[in-house]
Amino acid sequence: MAGVRLVDVWKIFGDFQAVKEMNLEIKDGEFMVLLGPSGCGKTTTLRMIAGLEEPSKGQIYIGDKLVADPEKGIFIPPKDRDIAMVFQSYALYPHMTVYDNIAFPLKLRKVPKQEIDQRVREVAELLGLTELLNRKPRELSGGQRQRVALGRAIVRRPKVFLMDEPLSNLDAKLRVKMRAELKKLQRQLGVTTIYVTHDQVEAMTMGDRIAVMNAGVLQQVGTPEEVYDKPANTFVAGFIGSPPMNFLDASVTEDGFLDFGEFRLKLLSDQFEVLQELGYVGREVIFGIRPEDVYDALFAQVKVPGENMVRARVDIVENLGGEKVVHLRVGGLSFVGKFSAESKVREGEEVDVVFDMKKIHTFDKKTKKAIF
Ligand SMILES: Nc1ncnc2c1ncn2[C@@H]1O[C@H](COP(=O)(O)OP(=O)(O)OP(=O)(O)O)[C@@H](O)[C@H]1O
Ligand SMILES: [Mg+2]
Repeated sequence: MAGVRLVDVWKIFGDFQAVKEMNLEIKDGEFMVLLGPSGCGKTTTLRMIAGLEEPSKGQIYIGDKLVADPEKGIFIPPKDRDIAMVFQSYALYPHMTVYDNIAFPLKLRKVPKQEIDQRVREVAELLGLTELLNRKPRELSGGQRQRVALGRAIVRRPKVFLMDEPLSNLDAKLRVKMRAELKKLQRQLGVTTIYVTHDQVEAMTMGDRIAVMNAGVLQQVGTPEEVYDKPANTFVAGFIGSPPMNFLDASVTEDGFLDFGEFRLKLLSDQFEVLQELGYVGREVIFGIRPEDVYDALFAQVKVPGENMVRARVDIVENLGGEKVVHLRVGGLSFVGKFSAESKVREGEEVDVVFDMKKIHTFDKKTKKAIF
């Protein structure tokens, strides 16, 4: 086993900077998720770690071994990096049985027949494929095929797994199941894993830590709790969580309120102190609150009109069964609340809305970085 370290890594295609100054350390045995929107450089980063792509600048280490450093002319090819990759479009060999598909990488490496047999059966047992070893891929379900592809990666006992959206061509239900299975498997094997996805739910549920990327730049690295509770900037705040965080412009008043024009919210004293100390009084900030921290006042414990409560118009109610996603409006300001299923709000009516002031966020208008 081994950790992975990227130091000042850049990838430039022609004049396009796909990955910029990436510094990331993945610990031995860790499940790290690379999360970000399409085109942000996730696959490129993974391919550089795998050795399928050479960095333009910087160093990549697998364990203590420097595997890529263009300045020193070092580039260890993929086959000598002891990694296994699982891609989105995993290609199984259609004419081979499940057994032979899993055994294939070992045959290539001229592992003795008896050892191959033992390892294939071990992996099949682990993945629940024992009964299916004699089938051909076309006789399997999507989830079973996915497990065969995983088996083929696991059987080699690599130091590092690299997975690029491996669940994306499964249906929603199977994805949820495979997500849990994959996570459990990674725990059992304890192999350092770097997992690419643009699905924030997948990232939150699977990752020990999440590295959020945007436009080639690493935005934040942290545990799922950290990136959810303490997003470093508006990009991370808006990308993690569903529905996304509400953002509204507000000015910080001298008497300790956030003034939105249409209404005001009273800052908690420690929040106001931070804004005072950093010189934000009298200036505008970006206010952020997650829909789950916006309540129907009937279900809120602390409610003080003019301090944390405001009357809003209900534009749209999306009933999700267990909860209601409610699109609200105060004058020209729109935001979304996630209300409890018991809430009786109706479209076109008005409702008293309470903001959980302990859960609010503020961001600098210019840099978009979190203030608190
Ligand atoms: N060989 C290449 N030549 C030129 N540009 C490339 C090349 N490979 C990738 N890019 C560009 O680099 C950027 C990052 O691509 P990458 O495949 O890493 O994105 P991604 O985060 O994996 O996105 P997705 O979620 O859509 O898979 C994209 O804008 C892509 O067009
Ligand atoms: Mg990709």
